[in-house]
Amino acid sequence: MIELIHVDKTYGEGSNAVEALKDVSITIEDGKFTAILGKSGSGKSTLMNIIGALDSPTRGKVISGGLDLTAMSEKELAAYRNRSTGFVFQSFYLEPAFTVLENVAMPLTIAGVARREREERARKILIELGLEDKIPRKANELSGGQKQRVSIARALVHDPDIVLADEPTGNLDSANGREVMKLLRRISESGKSVVLVTHNSEDAKNADCFIRLADGCVLPDGEVPLS
Ligand SMILES: Nc1ncnc2c1ncn2[C@@H]1O[C@H](COP(=O)(O)OP(=O)(O)OP(=O)(O)O)[C@@H](O)[C@H]1O
Ligand SMILES: [Mg+2]
Repeated sequence: MIELIHVDKTYGEGSNAVEALKDVSITIEDGKFTAILGKSGSGKSTLMNIIGALDSPTRGKVISGGLDLTAMSEKELAAYRNRSTGFVFQSFYLEPAFTVLENVAMPLTIAGVARREREERARKILIELGLEDKIPRKANELSGGQKQRVSIARALVHDPDIVLADEPTGNLDSANGREVMKLLRRISESGKSVVLVTHNSEDAKNADCFIRLADGCVLPDGEVPLS
């Protein structure tokens, strides 16, 4: 379980300050599929990055599995992310000249896993996701849908507790978008927590829980943000 307690996030200072999150208190339940909804600029990516420890709040606490992330050093946070979180982004962020296998093995390289084991684990997850024939290809030779499935494999290769996806279908056509959502649903059914940021109401139908943001504030259940 990840808990945010009275979290504020302010970017910049003085007259340039932007209050991206205001007094946000939420819980992300283990093994649940949570969708973060709200119009552009409402704070969705900021919230996702704080839930996934990619960014820290300006005020308030973030507690994950009993650990206080807001009390950790940068080094401890990096180790936490490496162990516990997997990220998927709208624009994939694959290394274009690297093979699919190398891209998927990357988080294990960072974690110091030996080459043979890295490659075995990357291969296994790629096979599970139906990407066996793409293993030796360069990332820039793939279609958008294939790239996103590879980036999901990369998010899963170190067996994280939580997968966070920021508009993962934003650059895909609807058929590929549906495939990616099916995959995220499957990941959630395998027992991992999934947090999805989306504008797409079809995608949001896959979620069990909803966090609705408007202007940096969480709306009470039942209130729908204007979008
Ligand atoms: N690094 C930053 N520096 C300054 N302001 C920022 C930064 N990142 C986000 N913001 C501001 O914080 C607010 C929330 O941004 P955020 O990216 O979280 O919104 P979002 O809901 O994800 O929007 P979108 O749907 O367009 O991706 C916006 O007003 C944005 O301009
Ligand atoms: Mg965003």
